[in-house]
Amino acid sequence: MEKIVSLCKRRGFVFPGSEIYGGLAGTYDYGPLGVLLKENLERLWLQMFRDERDDMYGVDAAILMNPKVWESSGHVAGFADPLVECKSCHTRFRADQIGWTDSKMPMADITCPECGKSDWADIKQFNMMFKMHAGAAENESAAVYLRPETAGGIFTNFKNIVDSTHPKLPFGIAQIGKAFRNEIAPRDFIFRAREFEQMEVEYFVRSVEWEQAFLMWQGLMHEYARAVGLPEESVHELEVPEADRAHYSKRTIDFEFDYPFGRKELWGLAYRGDFDLSVHEAGSGASLGYLDEENKEKMVPHVIEPSFGVDRTILAILVSAYREDELGGEGRTYLALAPRIAPVKAAVFPLLKNRPELVAKAREVYSMLKKESVSWRTAGIVWDDNGNIGKRYRRQDEIGTPFCITIDFDTLGESPNLADTVTLRHRDTGEQERILVTDIANRIQEAIR
Ligand code: GAP
Repeated sequence: MEKIVSLCKRRGFVFPGSEIYGGLAGTYDYGPLGVLLKENLERLWLQMFRDERDDMYGVDAAILMNPKVWESSGHVAGFADPLVECKSCHTRFRADQIGWTDSKMPMADITCPECGKSDWADIKQFNMMFKMHAGAAENESAAVYLRPETAGGIFTNFKNIVDSTHPKLPFGIAQIGKAFRNEIAPRDFIFRAREFEQMEVEYFVRSVEWEQAFLMWQGLMHEYARAVGLPEESVHELEVPEADRAHYSKRTIDFEFDYPFGRKELWGLAYRGDFDLSVHEAGSGASLGYLDEENKEKMVPHVIEPSFGVDRTILAILVSAYREDELGGEGRTYLALAPRIAPVKAAVFPLLKNRPELVAKAREVYSMLKKESVSWRTAGIVWDDNGNIGKRYRRQDEIGTPFCITIDFDTLGESPNLADTVTLRHRDTGEQERILVTDIANRIQEAIR
């Protein structure tokens, strides 16, 4: 993990939040490469789960919502973790993270990981929602919460989307956005943060269709895992027992990933029944029924929810892609990222930076690729003329650039049979081939596809 955290900072993927002020626990900022990686995997998600389908619609709801949303959903009363304080050193812990398994287990059996004593205050339920005030008044009537899941904004827009768009069941609503949880112990880099991003689908079905839809999403989640380059053997399903499921769920499968700190939840798939639309109907007084023309009846649809954490996905991708090997007798670090999500697709180098004719030709190739790459929607072409070619390769390997393109004297026609060709170098193998300038864009595009 340290190597990944260090690479993320050194190369501009992820920085600690507000670092120059000493940071703020559980917050991270995405740097230039992190932004591109994140955009690429979010775009792929939207492409697969919204744009390529006929039954999916998008929404982008406000983060601040009427607090009654979270009263109805059960989050005000029950979205809590067990908090315990060591009376000796006053460190606070999430009880279940230090070995407390259930309410029958005495805390006396557990020693404080900080000071080694066993002198605990009573366990309290700590609500994880960030509470704030909207407007100038700082009283309870002005209280609002930062949303703890993006799902809330989907359920509250169900009626708007049905009334404006008239979708036929089954259909889904997809949203990407920030969620906030006041985690007692944020840890493991971007795995457990206080501010993070979710990509969520609420898929509305007739009650009799839920198992079929659940199976479909289960398959699609594996498909997405493959598409972003997660090795199948590192992704595992856990059928969550009833006692451990969220209050709204009738069935949950956790998709777990083998992180360096253990096998942990990556994504979740839940069957939420008609819990959400029913509680919001009761809480708001609005009719959230759906007139099912097929069965000529008004009913409250049931919901299948595939929920993806963006940050946990990014960490899983980086963990899976990180490699150390030896190439040409030298050690190197590289990221074997799938080309479609790699932040930079290709780097263009003039062999020497002090030869204007080489630089001019390389600039031509660079501009041509830059223009082409706009239509790939996962743009990322960079220029590098700094240091020797070997160093430039290493720099690109470390950030997972699948292709390096070198313009040399042969490109200019020094060997007439190689005129207008470049060296295309492949990241994982270090192999080089000679290809025509006019073929480069297609080669990159093929790899992205
Ligand atoms: N709407 C359902 C829901 O929010 P969840 O299992 O609490 O369910 C869904 O969260 C996903 O959000 C998780 O599988 C994980 O990927 C991500 N997630 C949850 N808490 C997180 C945190 N503190 N930091 C980073 N990602 C988190």
